[in-house]
Parts: sequence; structure tokens; C-alpha cells
Amino acid sequence: MTLKEAIAQADEKGIALGHFNISDIAALRAIVSAAGDLEVPVIIGTSEGEAEFVDIEVAAKMVEDMVSETGQAVFLNADHFRDLEKAKEAARAGYDSIIFDAAKFPLEENIEKTKEAVQVLKEINPHLLVEGELGYIGESSKLLDEIPEGAKIDEGALPTPEDARRYVEETGVDLLAPAVGNLHGMFKKAQNPDLQIDLVKRINDAVEVPLVLHGGSGVTDDDFKKAIDAGMRIVHINTEIRVAWREGMKEALKDPNQIAPYKIFPEAEKKVKEVVERRLKLFSGLV
Ligand code: G3H
Ligand code: ZN
Repeated sequence: MTLKEAIAQADEKGIALGHFNISDIAALRAIVSAAGDLEVPVIIGTSEGEAEFVDIEVAAKMVEDMVSETGQAVFLNADHFRDLEKAKEAARAGYDSIIFDAAKFPLEENIEKTKEAVQVLKEINPHLLVEGELGYIGESSKLLDEIPEGAKIDEGALPTPEDARRYVEETGVDLLAPAVGNLHGMFKKAQNPDLQIDLVKRINDAVEVPLVLHGGSGVTDDDFKKAIDAGMRIVHINTEIRVAWREGMKEALKDPNQIAPYKIFPEAEKKVKEVVERRLKLFSGLV
């Protein structure tokens, strides 16, 4: 099954695929194992930073090996790549999809840069899915005290369905990540803002491509369900994975005599798997 087919299946069922980021083999094993238990496809993401740490070629090889060992539908996405040269490396390495992120630029420039990226990346691999991002959805997957000042999440600051239609038509992206009140990261002293479900519906009606919800960590189950019903077909989770990974490591490192990495990392794997399982059940309509 290709990623395009997996998304089409999700669309028919009215559910979403889960996308989870990794920086190491422990998180990768946790995600693949959770998806295997639930018998659902899953997307592994590496941001530019994560991909630099793991290495683009190594990440592609690890996922390829996982697929041939398990026979599962596991896909690999280059997440928020802002550097076209890096995106080209990911395309050559065999990634299934690439998010070319020019969202920090004004609309015209975003369209121009994304259009060029789509052309260049599809020349390398015509089957690659290229995702574009429209509007502000925050920076990285961090634990923040508060919602960042200047976060453009009010209705007037979010992209309109008309912006979305124009962006998709002019750039030729296969997938669209619109800002709909979602923000990367989690907030220690604040709840995630509510998602603008009506805007999701209107953008979904305006464009022909599947929608992707970023900044999933901290979003309530209820908001997830509504966003998926309104047309989101992929949901991204990263901060929750990072928090779980850290908790697992902390637990394992309590024993000062434990020095075997292969006995320490499984604790992180266990905690990450719990998060992924819970999220995948919800996204797949299994709860
Ligand atoms: O692309 C990555 C995601 O959008 C992660 O967002 O850290 O808020 O879950 P999150
Ligand atoms: Zn994201």
C-alpha cells in the first residue's frame, strides 16, 4: 500500500492516520509496535533537526527494514523541511512524503517557494507526496509556559478557504496543513486553544486535497474527533512523544547501577508506545 492509498482508505472510513516523530530507534519501535497491535497504517516523521541527528539515509533505511520485517504499512515523512536541499536529500533517500514549510513567508512568497519545491521534488520522485503549510502553527515541539505572544490564532489571522483554494491550485501540493487554531508544543500554564472546526470544514470544502492537522499534542479528544469528522486525514503528534520518552528514561535511570543502554531505552519505548496506542485508537475510530 502507498501512502496515497492509505490516506484514501482513511478518507473512505472518515478517520485519520497518525503521524509521530522520532529521534531514535526506541520511539520508532514503539510506534511501529503500537500500529502493529492495532493493525493500522502509521506515519513516522523526522523534522529537519531529528533527521540530522538520525541521518536521512539511516532513517529511510530503518523504516524500510521495519516494513520488510513486519509487513506493516509504515510510511516516512520529512516534517517541516525548510531547506530545499535537505528536502531533495529526503526525496532521494526514499521518503514517502515531504512537508515543504514556507509558512513563515507572506502568502505570495509561500506560494512561489512551495510551487518551486513541488516541481523540484516531483522530478526526483513523481510518487512523492508534497505537503504545503498555510498560516502560523507555531515553532517547534516544546513545552512552553504559555501560548506564545503574537500567536496568530484568532479567526481573522487564520487563512481563509479562498486562500487555501488558491494556495493548493497554484502550488500543486498533494496535502495541505492549514492553521486552524492549532499550535506546535504544549503549554504548562494553559490549555491548547480550541480548534476552529467550522474553518476546517470550510477549507475542506474549498480544496481537493486531504488536510493535515499539526500540533496535535495537548488537543482534547473531543476536538480531535470533531476535526477528523470535519476532514482532517492525518494528525501530527510530537511533544507528547518527547515527554513520554523523557519520563521513560528518567524512570530507567533511577537505578544508578543500570548502565546497559539496551535495558534503559525499553522504558522509553514502553512510555512512547502508550501514547501512540491511545492516540491511534482515537484517530482510527477504535474508541
Ligand atoms: O509536525 C509535527 C507536529 O505538528 C507536532 O506538533 O508537538 O504539538 O504534537 P506537537
Ligand atoms: Zn507540525
